[in-house]
Amino acid sequence: PSLTLLLRINGLTLRIDADPMTRLSRILRDELGLTGLKEGCCEGECGACTVLVDGLPVNACLVLGFQAQDRNITTVEGLREAGKLAGLQEAFLTYGAVQCGYCSPGMVMAAEGFLRANTDPSAGEIRHALAGNLCRCTGFETIVQAVASEAA
Ligand code: FES
Repeated sequence: PSLTLLLRINGLTLRIDADPMTRLSRILRDELGLTGLKEGCCEGECGACTVLVDGLPVNACLVLGFQAQDRNITTVEGLREAGKLAGLQEAFLTYGAVQCGYCSPGMVMAAEGFLRANTDPSAGEIRHALAGNLCRCTGFETIVQAVASEAA
């Protein structure tokens, strides 16, 4: 059964007809074409689907459509300002913190949420914050460097 869900995504309020039990990650990708976030495990283990919900990093595969209502959801597409990449996205490019790129949107969103609450983190704190985001190809060193470069 389909319901009209009222979702606030990247600053826009949207009405979406969807099964309220559909995963938020599928709504974002399939209904809205926001394909920046990826699905890896669909079990909350890999972090590839990370978005911000009310400013905090959340695995979108663990959120059902009806649970996403009345929340402010930000996807990696929503980080851009005036059509330009956000500083954290640029930092990933500068530090070569991307190889296949599958984990990158989730990494960026997890780091974004972390940096909003922790403006001067240590490398260890950054590693801890990204512990739920798995990368299978670059190793984590350049990712940590990129995030550290964006700390205030
Ligand atoms: Fe959501 Fe892996 S797809 S945590």
